[in-house]
Amino acid sequence: MKNDPLLEPFQLRHLTLRNRIMSTAHAPSYQEGGHPRDRYRRYHEEKARGGIGLTIIGGSTNIAPDSPSVFGQLYAGDDSIIPWFTRLTDGVRAHGAAVMCQITHMGRRTAWDDGHWLPVAGPSGTRERAHRSFPKAMEPEDITRIIAQFAAAARRCQQGGFDGIELLSHSHLLGQFLSPLVNRREDDYGGSLDNRLRLTLQVIEAVREAVGPEMILGMRITGDELSEGGLGPDECVEIAQRIAATGAIDFLNVLAGAPYDDLGLAGWVAPMGMPAAPHLSIAGRIRQAVGLPVFHAGGVADIATARHAVAGGHVDLIGMTRAHMADPYRWPNWRAATKTAFAPASALATAWIG
Ligand SMILES: Cc1cc2nc3c(=O)[nH]c(=O)nc-3n(C[C@H](O)[C@H](O)[C@H](O)COP(=O)(O)O)c2cc1C
Repeated sequence: MKNDPLLEPFQLRHLTLRNRIMSTAHAPSYQEGGHPRDRYRRYHEEKARGGIGLTIIGGSTNIAPDSPSVFGQLYAGDDSIIPWFTRLTDGVRAHGAAVMCQITHMGRRTAWDDGHWLPVAGPSGTRERAHRSFPKAMEPEDITRIIAQFAAAARRCQQGGFDGIELLSHSHLLGQFLSPLVNRREDDYGGSLDNRLRLTLQVIEAVREAVGPEMILGMRITGDELSEGGLGPDECVEIAQRIAATGAIDFLNVLAGAPYDDLGLAGWVAPMGMPAAPHLSIAGRIRQAVGLPVFHAGGVADIATARHAVAGGHVDLIGMTRAHMADPYRWPNWRAATKTAFAPASALATAWIG
């Protein structure tokens, strides 16, 4: 197809992405000692070789000891990760893709009997059914500590050479403070939207100060928790607008759902039984309401739907995350990738398909 909107470069401040297709953050459980060593690096190099514009590595990279890596995430709570970051970012960029890292504190979305067996922290004592821990309601000193730990982890990402950093809000600690389903506090961090947003804005401010004005910084947020009593679409638009109004955030990555139990998780990482791109319009609404680039992933596994998402103005970049887990060469660059990786197979494929 000529002039394919998916293959148009995208300018994200000073960063030029070669096209509009991305892999969103996920934890492939390839960490070793909390680091992204060779296996992890090669996993993302293959995605870059397949031709995508951006890969966000380090799904749920933890920033603090009371957010243990219960499903094999990276740990950016100390400096030992920095040399591994550097090798990975060099490796991915050598294949033409941009590379960012996601960082988070999981709040109550974790287990107590892992890592250092520390108490699970959350805005309130509300239990998450998926992980079953009863969180400790965070005290003022926990809040101060975790803000500083976000900033320190972001600085480590910067030192490791990433093109950008994504703060994960949705369903993790920052999102838990936002959600009326989870946050029952009666202090300055609970109740009104101003109060529920306080921690998010403090983290953004601290991280921006730590990494300086040039570093690309984004946030992964929900556009609708799709749950009774949870964050609805109007409140999510307002949250997105207030985050944008800080001037400290360069992109929003929008998803939907509330993975507080298995059914909620299934609604978020859309399974085969759901229609394609079930939450695209939710992301599109946020894009219309804020003046920031919007990324989105959710049930887009075919190129026609991806093209529609971008050409229709719903999003700026479209994630095809599981599609590229299954086959990093599938799109957009299978010819080039297969030529380098498996030259004879490429010739065969060209003869058959091309
Ligand atoms: C195994 C797996 C792990 C994931 N881990 C994370 C994560 O740590 N952080 C995150 O923001 N999203 C995570 N996701 C969600 C993906 O980023 C993406 O939103 C989801 O797969 C839907 O997009 P897709 O239909 O293009 O795959 C994960 C998804 C999968 C399948």
